[in-house]
Order: sequence, then C-alpha cells, then structure tokens
Amino acid sequence: MDSTVEAPQDVIPARLLQGQKALVTGANSGIGKATAIALGGAGADVVVNYVTGREVAEKVVEEIASFGVRAAAYEADVSQEDQVVAMMDRMVQEFGTIDVLVANAGMQRDARFTEMTLAQWQKVLDVNLTGQFLCAQEATKEFRRRGVVPEVSRSAGKIICMSSVHQLIPWAGHVNYASSKGGVQMMMQTLAQELAPEKIRVNAVAPGAIKTPINREAWETPEAQKDLLKLIPYGRIGDPDDIANAVVALASDLMDYVVGTTLYVDGGMTLFPGFATGG
Ligand code: BGC
Repeated sequence: MDSTVEAPQDVIPARLLQGQKALVTGANSGIGKATAIALGGAGADVVVNYVTGREVAEKVVEEIASFGVRAAAYEADVSQEDQVVAMMDRMVQEFGTIDVLVANAGMQRDARFTEMTLAQWQKVLDVNLTGQFLCAQEATKEFRRRGVVPEVSRSAGKIICMSSVHQLIPWAGHVNYASSKGGVQMMMQTLAQELAPEKIRVNAVAPGAIKTPINREAWETPEAQKDLLKLIPYGRIGDPDDIANAVVALASDLMDYVVGTTLYVDGGMTLFPGFATGG
C-alpha cells in the first residue's frame, strides 16, 4: 500500500462547519433534532427552533453546547410571518448572522380524500410549504445583506429544504402531505435558479422511511415493519442520523457545486422496488 495516501479524516475536516451559524426549524424532535445536533458536532453554532415542547428543545440545546459551540432554543410557528421575521431578527442579533437554514419543520394530518377537512389540508400546506417559503425568504435577506465571507464559506448561504420521497411518490390518504412536498420540490428548484447568481445554494434532502414519531405506526409493530421493509431495497428503516449526516455534507463546502438538487436518502425507496421481481 502507498503509505503517502492520507486517511480520510486528514482530508475531510472533522469540523466541517466551523464558524457557521445554522438554524434548524422543528428541531426538538425526529429528523430536525438529529440534524441540529449533527450540525453542532460539525462545529456550527445552532438555533434550535420549536413551536411546542420547550423542555425538549432546551435538552437539544444542552447536547449541542457540549460540543463547545453556541446553541439556543427559539420558539416560533414557521407558518406565521411575524414569528419568522422575529426569529430571524433575534438570530442576527444574538448570533451575528445565518449561514445555513435547514427548513425542516413539517407535519402530517392524514385522511382519505373525501374525509379530509379543509383545515387538515390547509394546516399541512401552511407548515410544510408556506413555512419553508417564509424561512427561506428571511434567511435570503440576511445572506444577501452579508454576502460571501470567504473565511467562513465559499457561498453566501445555504438553504436545505426538508422534502420527502413523497415529492415523487404519490401517497393515497395523504394528499395534503404529498402535495406539500411536491410544492417543496418546485419551490426549491425555483429558488435555486433565482438565487444561485448571488452565491446562495438551495437544495433539498428527501428522506424515505425514517424512524421518528411522525410515522410511528409504520414501524412500531413487527408486522408493520415487515410491510415497510418491502418498500426499502436496502433492507433497513432509516435513522434520523442518516438524514442529519446528509444535511451536514450538503451544507458544507464539500458540496459547494451542488445547486438545486434533491438528495434522496431513502435506502432505495424511490427505485420502484415492486419492479425488482415484477413488471
Ligand atoms: C413520511 C413518513 C413515511 C415516509 C415514507 C415520509 O415523508 O413523513 O410518514 O413513512 O415518508 O413513506
């Protein structure tokens, strides 16, 4: 073996996001929580946004702070413009700026089509799509004001939209959720096209089935797990860390030329597994 080849840890800096300031929405549970912690582990200062569950958010803050970076929990409903504006103002005041937005907050309110109330439709669109729109808009204003700081990052800012395999896979009984994620895909691509000339990188991560409270029913019992695994060629249900690691990489300068892309992190769920033996 060539002894001059460096080990990967010498090539890829351990604290990939050193000196960057990140905001993760919906960061007190599931994917958002794991992502906020991973960003802190990568050296970023992190704002942990939550809408309910202050104690859990404070625990996440403590865990992040144990890495020797700054962290704080901010309450805000991402679907409310005044609250998003206030959250971003506070972050700029207390952290100085924002370099990475992870627009993660999302929810499901499932119902068959004709049973779905307008309130269920509207709530999911408000949080999952309008919430990302509002947070991206406020983050962009700050990215633009500050511009590129080469010591911190090659780009003026990164927006990572949390999408889902359901931006691609239709999902009966979840028309509000699937429509919101389809909307996230086109919003992400349009923002990426519009903002790339300003050195703002917009991308999305599309998780498959990840073990979190949002889909507990799908993995809680052995029977449910068996059914779910039929949809996952890679043969395991995802962990929140699978998504968190993808977000850290996408936010870092290692991915500086990645613009307007959706990174599917799904164990192959979008590979039409039914066709492995059928068709
Ligand atoms: C949903 C989960 C679901 C997964 C795969 C996610 O976007 O929130 O409930 O298990 O997609 O279908």
